[in-house]
Amino acid sequence: MNVLIIGGAGYIGSHQVKIMLEANHNVIVYDNLSTGHQDKVDKKAVFVKGDIRDYDLLKKTIIKYKIDAIMHFAALSIVSDSMNRALEYYDNNVYGFQVLLNVMRDTNVKNIIFSSTAAVYGKQDKMPIDEKAMTIPSNPYGETKLTMEKMIKWAALSNDFRYVILRYFNVAGASLDGSVGELHNPETHLIPIVLEVALNKREKLFVNGNDYNTKDGTCIRDYIHVLDLCQAHKLALDYLVSGNKSDTFNLGYGYGYSVIEIIESARKVCQHELLYEIAPRRQGDPDVLIASCDKVKDVLKWQPKYNDINIIIESAYNFIEKNK
Ligand code: UFG
Repeated sequence: MNVLIIGGAGYIGSHQVKIMLEANHNVIVYDNLSTGHQDKVDKKAVFVKGDIRDYDLLKKTIIKYKIDAIMHFAALSIVSDSMNRALEYYDNNVYGFQVLLNVMRDTNVKNIIFSSTAAVYGKQDKMPIDEKAMTIPSNPYGETKLTMEKMIKWAALSNDFRYVILRYFNVAGASLDGSVGELHNPETHLIPIVLEVALNKREKLFVNGNDYNTKDGTCIRDYIHVLDLCQAHKLALDYLVSGNKSDTFNLGYGYGYSVIEIIESARKVCQHELLYEIAPRRQGDPDVLIASCDKVKDVLKWQPKYNDINIIIESAYNFIEKNK
């Protein structure tokens, strides 16, 4: 199949490109390089530099490469950033998605795998969270993704689109050969920040609050290895093109680690002292986010292979060390 990977130069997208190439698909990457890195895109993929809001270029690309299916990773995705730049999040995420759906309609592309997020759930009392839980986002990032989910659901009805929505919990780790991984500037995610301390790139890290309703007071998240996450996308596309119905799945492992537990694990993996300081809470952070992953295992037959926090931390560490 000819698969268009929008945002294929980003952290998750660049792993997905490799997995789709390994599965013998033709891969076309479309990315505006606002946060992505062209040198991290596998050379066997075609690369087109373009913005998701550019209707004409997107349409031209889809026609030129006879695209059969789309995987959509291009989004602004930092919770804290979204609290300060809500309108930019609506513009890039929601308006950009509207343009993409218009192009799909006008070029007759029917299948799309769409990256959503656990941030659509907001604060929940019942853990783990299953796909039927209420969606009450507590930040603009989650709100834009929920709006995009609703948009694809309605657009699918009127345009015969078929979709899989994947709600990611906390994606982490890197390819095992260290060739692709997480490279944000500035970095905001916990695991890469902890590892920058381990590599003496930062003196210490700040723990965002220790008065949450958790065992040690720090936030608990369900960390999923990027390779397991990308494998689920591949299965989702196989599922759609085999004629199955559109659906929504969580992607996480079903258990979580607190910020302090991540620091402790990284200490052991890196064999390095990790200095931290307790700081105030970060706006918009729920106490605990843990996925129920029964549905994705049951329907897509997804079987995680890297569900060990030490593998997640070690692969991320190797990548950062190799790309210092
Ligand atoms: N944290 C710190 N110090 C830091 C960085 C993070 O204490 O320097 C804490 C955060 O406050 C949070 C936890 O570590 O409690 C994890 O934070 P991340 O920034 O790594 O990840 P988030 O949970 O904020 O967000 C990520 C993705 C979102 C997604 C969400 C779903 O970035 O896109 O997971 O759980 F919505």
